[in-house]
Amino acid sequence: MRDKTRFFCTQCGQESLKWVGKCPGCSEWNTMVEELVSRKTSAPRAVLARHPILLKDVKAESLSRIPVGSPELDRVLGGGLVPGSVVLVGGDPGIGKSTLLLQTAEAIASIGKRVLYFSGEESLEQMRLRASRLGVDSNELYVAAETDVNILIEQAQGLNPAVVIIDSIQTVYSGDLSSAPGSVGQVRDCAGRLIRLAKDTGIAVFLIGHVTKEGAIAGPRILEHMVDAVLYFEGERHLSFRLLRAVKNRFGSTNEVGVFQMESGGLKDVDNPSELLLTERPTDVAGSIVVPLMEGTRPMLIEIQALLAPASYGNPRRTTSGVEGNRVAMVLAVLERRVGFDISFQDSYVNAVGGIRVSDPAADLAIAICLASSLRNAKIPRDVAVVGEVGLTGEVRGVSRIDVRAAEVKKLGFKRLIVPKSNGIELTRLSNKPEIFPVQSLHEALQATWNM
Ligand code: TYD
Ligand code: MG
Repeated sequence: MRDKTRFFCTQCGQESLKWVGKCPGCSEWNTMVEELVSRKTSAPRAVLARHPILLKDVKAESLSRIPVGSPELDRVLGGGLVPGSVVLVGGDPGIGKSTLLLQTAEAIASIGKRVLYFSGEESLEQMRLRASRLGVDSNELYVAAETDVNILIEQAQGLNPAVVIIDSIQTVYSGDLSSAPGSVGQVRDCAGRLIRLAKDTGIAVFLIGHVTKEGAIAGPRILEHMVDAVLYFEGERHLSFRLLRAVKNRFGSTNEVGVFQMESGGLKDVDNPSELLLTERPTDVAGSIVVPLMEGTRPMLIEIQALLAPASYGNPRRTTSGVEGNRVAMVLAVLERRVGFDISFQDSYVNAVGGIRVSDPAADLAIAICLASSLRNAKIPRDVAVVGEVGLTGEVRGVSRIDVRAAEVKKLGFKRLIVPKSNGIELTRLSNKPEIFPVQSLHEALQATWNM
């Protein structure tokens, strides 16, 4: 008997024969999703073919990882690509997902492992143009412009590659469902079949997915719990800097971040991001300081800039870029109430330079010193870096991994580092480090910056 489709509410599970905008069960809007109801699943289950076995007898040899040609991507994946795993690579359109995956495909193919790249977004001619730009010419890299998931899976089974790349999951569709490609039902159903392909055959699958700023209803977010790893590709489109962040990884740490630079010949690994981030740092100005932040297990020196300007009228503006607005608002309040600065009639602008998104509270102290520097128009000595979290009473709190941060500061040629007092004690054991200035409060930190 032919399979049928039904619509289900993602909120309450209400079933419906046809699509409706408002769920008849819970009255929520736009929650109905098309799904395939197979006649077979309602039949009583046959004896399970897969018997339980002892966990210690499970062979782990299939976990031998495939190196992907880029040390940055290798690290984000947790040390290479695991056969049979499904990796979702999400990001804004135009950020460089296709470029990254085509380069990865070439690198894997050039070590003799077959790769099949399905392009639903671009024609094969367009892909060829990109490929010549990237110098792709491997003998094991196959491409197809197929978007029907059933044909696509057949082709993959026929060619038996080590890796399959789907560019993108939003363009793939299943003819069994009547909804349009890219809709929640389609994306979920197609991804489910591709995941089964990966688990049954040991083929590693990369799914490319677009995310829009609004979190895109049919975007890859609904796939996050289905796949083994989720990597997000971020960066400002007009800057060349790109970060690949693991937000989920069943085969490695989720804190890892890969750093790339988009050049005319494709994406290049950046092995010393601090150096690159600080190349354009201005000299001898007020309102700029460097903070060592942790991006995963790696320290990165990031320049924080702040500017205060008298507000023309009404409520002062609080603008931030790359740093959290709430963090800045808190630091401004502490400066005002605990240090006695009068900034209530000042517009404030705070930036993290280089398109980096700072979420580490260890940047608080840098933001505070920058704002103070701008208000007093006092230059911050160029060879000073600072790290520390600021509390509501104006106290400075310790941060994690101070040894790694201090070593990076030293490596990049900074002579002095202002740190929270508790971290100062930890650092007494470290031999190769900048001169350390431990502080207990925001007040002390401001003194240390200008009286050293
Ligand atoms: P692309 O990989 O197509 O992005 P996505 O698949 O995420 O939509 O990359 C888009 C941008 O990258 C495009 O604006 C051009 C730029 N680019 C380079 O700067 N250098 C290159 O070598 C390539 C291939 C692309
Ligand atoms: Mg693309």
